[in-house]
Amino acid sequence: MNCNYSFASDNTASVHPLIMKAIEEVNRGQYVSYGDDPFTEQAINKFKEVFGEDAEVFFTLTGTASNVLSIRAFTQPFNSVLCTDVSHINIDECGAPENIAGIKLVQIKSADGKLNPKMIAPHLGVIGNEHHSQPRLISITQTTEVGTVYTYNELKELTEFAHNNGLYVHMDGARLANAASYLNLSLKKLTYDAGIDVLSFGGTKNGMMIGEAVIIFNRESNRNFIDSFKYIRKQSMQLLSKMRYISSQFIAYFENDLWLKNAEHANRMAQYLSNKLLEFYPDIEIMYKIEGNAVFVKIPERILDELKKDFYFYIWDNNGPVIRLMSSFETNRSDIDNLVSRLKQLL
Ligand SMILES: Cc1ncc(COP(=O)(O)O)c(C=O)c1O
Repeated sequence: MNCNYSFASDNTASVHPLIMKAIEEVNRGQYVSYGDDPFTEQAINKFKEVFGEDAEVFFTLTGTASNVLSIRAFTQPFNSVLCTDVSHINIDECGAPENIAGIKLVQIKSADGKLNPKMIAPHLGVIGNEHHSQPRLISITQTTEVGTVYTYNELKELTEFAHNNGLYVHMDGARLANAASYLNLSLKKLTYDAGIDVLSFGGTKNGMMIGEAVIIFNRESNRNFIDSFKYIRKQSMQLLSKMRYISSQFIAYFENDLWLKNAEHANRMAQYLSNKLLEFYPDIEIMYKIEGNAVFVKIPERILDELKKDFYFYIWDNNGPVIRLMSSFETNRSDIDNLVSRLKQLL
């Protein structure tokens, strides 16, 4: 695609130079495969430092794989997984959770991309009724698909409600770094301390080349899931033989808080963009709170085709239309200024 700059996603960005350097450094000599190498050990120790000793870590190749394998580990095919209507697992994974985990996804309409106990409760009346899929897991996304953020208290309330009702909580943390930056809270606080059972932790959208992780938190009730996860991962073709190429990236990702610096920058750019867009109101309307690195805006239909010629972005909703503009660690002010001046011309 030929365009000035892409605002389509944070994964159109390049690989952060420090990540590239880490890959290059590990690309010397031979090491034991399938994760029995010193870099993987070092990376896992780093995860335990960051997420706590109870974090059991398994690397995967994609965010979709992390989500689907998390679901598969915590469910049986007669279970249902409760999620929002806009969740990635619901609309952007080509039915993989249903196909590979065999579960039913129950989508709950959400105005801000979040779930809360009040929204979940009406779906629990079927528990014990053999005619219905049995709710087992709540899957939430942090930051959400519309760029909003669950606070620590919202997470705690949700996980307590889930656990009191015999359910587990999965967090799709493809952009957890952006949420941690926004809230100024640690990754551990927003996951383990908040009662999350299983986390898909993303790296690719925040400067890594390839690499995601599933973290199952070692609570009494999760032991069996931890024990079986390595088999599920292998059977699902996500055990990478040259694991050190992911491990080395994660080591660099945590070194000097690169993950946080990248997320802080992306968030700052989203704020910068949204502040600039305010001047176009009411022609341009910001749809959701800017809490991460996504800016959703309603634009006049008449400018859409022209704008698309110069910039790459996703149309989130044809009604409006609403477009999604995302920033990343490498977005800079001049990219945004270019977009803003083009908008000015078109409007
Ligand atoms: C919220 C969320 N979860 C998961 C993913 C999955 O990532 P992948 O494309 O690596 O499968 C994405 C990717 O866009 C995402 O936005």
